[in-house]
Amino acid sequence: MCGIFGYIGSRDAVKIAINGLKKLEYRGYDSAGIAGIKDGKIVSAKELGKITALEKEVAKMNLDLHVAISQTRWATHGKPSKINAHPHFDATHQLALVHNGIIENYEALRTSLKDKGVHFVSDTDTEVVAQLIGAHYKGDILKAVFETLPLLKGAYAIALIHQDYPDQIIAISHNAPLVIGIGENEAFISSDTHSFVAHTREVVFLENSEVAVIKADKLEVFNTALEQIEKKSEQLSIEAIESSKGNYEHYTLKEIHDQPQAVRNALSGRFLQEYGTASFDSLNFDVNELLNVKRILILACGTSWHAGYMGAYMLEDKARIPVQAEIASEFRYKNPIVQNDTLVIAISQSGETADTIAAVRELKAKGAKILALCNVEGSTLVREADSTLFLRAGQEIGVCSTKAFTSQVVILSLFTLMMARMRHMSKQDGQEFLKALERLPDQIDSILKNSAHIEAIAKKYAHYENFFYLGRHYMYPASLEGALKLKEIAYINANGYPAGEMKHGPIALINENCPTVALCSNNLTHEKLLSNLMEVKSRNGLVIAIAEEGDKGIEKIADEIIRVPATIDELACIPAVVVTQLLAYFIAKERGADIDQPRNLAKAVTVE
Ligand code: G6P
Repeated sequence: MCGIFGYIGSRDAVKIAINGLKKLEYRGYDSAGIAGIKDGKIVSAKELGKITALEKEVAKMNLDLHVAISQTRWATHGKPSKINAHPHFDATHQLALVHNGIIENYEALRTSLKDKGVHFVSDTDTEVVAQLIGAHYKGDILKAVFETLPLLKGAYAIALIHQDYPDQIIAISHNAPLVIGIGENEAFISSDTHSFVAHTREVVFLENSEVAVIKADKLEVFNTALEQIEKKSEQLSIEAIESSKGNYEHYTLKEIHDQPQAVRNALSGRFLQEYGTASFDSLNFDVNELLNVKRILILACGTSWHAGYMGAYMLEDKARIPVQAEIASEFRYKNPIVQNDTLVIAISQSGETADTIAAVRELKAKGAKILALCNVEGSTLVREADSTLFLRAGQEIGVCSTKAFTSQVVILSLFTLMMARMRHMSKQDGQEFLKALERLPDQIDSILKNSAHIEAIAKKYAHYENFFYLGRHYMYPASLEGALKLKEIAYINANGYPAGEMKHGPIALINENCPTVALCSNNLTHEKLLSNLMEVKSRNGLVIAIAEEGDKGIEKIADEIIRVPATIDELACIPAVVVTQLLAYFIAKERGADIDQPRNLAKAVTVE
């Protein structure tokens, strides 16, 4: 979703900002823009579409800037267009600002400004902020900012420049992430540390409602009462990753292929084979706290929620703890009941998903302990949580999540094992569970080696506009995830459904034009699933089965079979989901979709 990048210092601000924006591309966007100060005046450029279009435009302008703010926009208020792209300006064009988030009361503010004769050029909520600060400006920009902020409702991260202050950027963070990178006589500002970590690792995170005045050689941070506050900088330990697709055509394909290694990383140093259990260095809850857990609440969105759903089945089944997996955007408005013995697990690849963070804050306010599963060091979720288990999946750039999902499920499996071993699970059962986990990387590898077969099936079925994904028990959340992949990257309507529920309505949609992807690798419910698939076949439905090696029963039913290596039911979703990722990828490729940055989607959804 929208990404902010700013630079101030002696180097070429345009070049650094454009490169910074490219590092934010993965978040998903529809337009991009940049503004700076040249000869005492605001200069700017905006383009619809890719950053390369903006890059070409600024190259023509021959800008020589030492301060710049820039942004990738993901449309919320006003369609994607050059006019609606950021930066936005006040009426006198003395200030420019970029924004990530939503100003919820923008309509009322816009009307009252219009009544005072202010003319708006865009449809955005952001322009309201620029116009308001401009209207309050009487020679002191910080004062104008502080007079405006109490009028705004919503979430916002803002970077602002004013032509009367050519040596500073003002940054504001309220429920939206913004981090300042401190270099030698230069400073960076961004929504994501990855975008500047190649330049500096020294960072200051802005917390809620803080306002920073950033100069090349000085940083001042103020609280809402305009009092200057002491902020300690932190050193990032993340590597500067030169993200590259290698020999792969898309990041998404590369990340699907990263999975054997991602699983190895997730497992590394986190289990004790001898005792048949798992342990996490970074888990700072003591044994008594973990033994006292009587209920677990898992919160997440999108693919992370599917991993959480899987974790819920596993934790209940193996650790015998009641678990609820909730979609964060729904949960946060339920006025939740939180008892002392409830552990909250918040799952987020990015650590920036607005609904997940808001739900976590609500639960923290009610006294709950938060365990985060996250892939991004320094992200908002990591800073909010009491403890974090990192995915160690490496940066995920493709907008649709692939390797993060597998890593999340692996870590939830290890966590389940640890909780189960502390309760009823025997050492032998624990050791068997671990052996199954250790086999996973090679099993995924063998699926990846079977890509040509999956691609051939994908080509044959790519023209269908509707699909069902059916599974039972552990394969139900897997079917949700499989269907989501197809929706996200191939733009095909796909329904993930518990197979036993089909006859209660959805089966009315089955005919020869609606293939069913059947996720068959769940031993407990296998016979039941086969009966459900017979019902599909009887209605002329086509069946593409993802079935374990040795599964003979499916051969009489399925039109196509993609084999996966056999594993225990608790882990079977991983091989099955890897197949669905490849299937969606090849179907999307066949249809010519924009696989790494699908239309309308964002990698980090930082608005509600
Ligand atoms: C967006 C992404 C999804 C992701 C979801 C949750 O919708 O496109 O791939 O699953 O957000 O993201 P998180 O970073 O919280 O896991």
